[in-house]
Amino acid sequence: MAELALRGGKKTFSGFWPAWPVYGEEDEQALVDVLRSRNWGGYPAPNQRAREFAAAFAAAHDARYGICAANGTVTLEVALRACGVKAGDEVIVTPYTWIATAGAPVTVNAVPVFADVDPDTYCLDPAAVEAAVCERSRAIIAVHLGGSLADLDALVEIADKHDLVLIEDCAHMHGAKWRGKGVGSHGQLGSFSFQSSKLMTAGEGGIILTSDEELEQRCQSHVNCGRKEPGYDRFEGLVFSGNYRMTEFQAALLQVRLGHLERERVLRQAHAEYLDGLLAEVDGVRPMARDERTTHPACYQYIFRYDPEAFGGASRDRFVEALCAEGVPADGDFYVPIYRSPLFPITADRFPAIRERYGERIDPERIDCPVAEKAAYREAVWLHHPLLMADKAEIDAIAEAIRKIAEHADELRE
Ligand SMILES: Cc1ncc(COP(=O)(O)O)c(C=O)c1O
Repeated sequence: MAELALRGGKKTFSGFWPAWPVYGEEDEQALVDVLRSRNWGGYPAPNQRAREFAAAFAAAHDARYGICAANGTVTLEVALRACGVKAGDEVIVTPYTWIATAGAPVTVNAVPVFADVDPDTYCLDPAAVEAAVCERSRAIIAVHLGGSLADLDALVEIADKHDLVLIEDCAHMHGAKWRGKGVGSHGQLGSFSFQSSKLMTAGEGGIILTSDEELEQRCQSHVNCGRKEPGYDRFEGLVFSGNYRMTEFQAALLQVRLGHLERERVLRQAHAEYLDGLLAEVDGVRPMARDERTTHPACYQYIFRYDPEAFGGASRDRFVEALCAEGVPADGDFYVPIYRSPLFPITADRFPAIRERYGERIDPERIDCPVAEKAAYREAVWLHHPLLMADKAEIDAIAEAIRKIAEHADELRE
């Protein structure tokens, strides 16, 4: 008689995990208030609630300015445009992230250059970044991934040394701080997403943070069809752009959600660290490293490392299947290295700047990121943050399910 649920055994957990997103009466009231105000859109830009929310979110992350936008894809594009990244420039990016991170350079006709990630954090490896710098490099986009921050000390140093712009992609990291200072405020610009799965959400939405007044004005202009509103005297001329504005409905929800962020961050983090402790006792799984410079950690995805050797050689994907069957929703290939993604068919006929570095298309075989490849295809297991908002007994159930699979690894054979 099989033990694993995958083989017909009893599930470890058959209850319900917390739903996401969460909302309450305050959220309902905020939306009704916007509805009744008839002031729904993003224009005049920034509109009232978007302006208030941007100021509060920026202050919470120790930046001077916030610029609201439609999502966390266009925020990256606007950030690059605002600092003048253009055709032929190179932007060093991590491959282990959502495609928007490397898509942003492509949309401004720059060239994404993939640098490998650190095996302990899955964030950009500073040594790989340094090795990727050349005379065409203009910017670095670092992603703070899952529950780990990129090494901001090292990345700021490299950016300063080579006169590069550092953009932090904080789509996973609302509320986190490095050495007591908010993410998104260490580089020249920070970008956040408020898409449905994120730690703060309005369904869709994004924000750019900066402490540089000229960059702030340029970003405001880019988000608002290239308009140059009165007072935008920090830069010359007009820019061609589009409508990337946030609605007042989104801003109103986010104002309420910001009030809950710190409490939720602390709860998720306490459970993430509790789970670290439980997993440390199971052979063959390893939590990501914790860095004490991350004074306020946040956790969008709890990621741990899987070692097939300890599970009779079963693949990571087979393990994930078994974990899901036990009642613990998990993901393996949450991200593939971007240069291998079918959503990233970047060819030189459409994006000519690509030709010089990659030939007619971005060829995965010419890119060397073994750590990202291992994480994506063989090692990383992802648990979405709402699981961490459950009770401690449910966190115990996650570890119990993993322990059970380890004990019955022979049943993983296909
Ligand atoms: C790391 C990262 N960057 C950028 C984005 C893009 O954000 P959005 O979905 O709001 O466009 C996402 C989100 O999906 C993300 O996870």
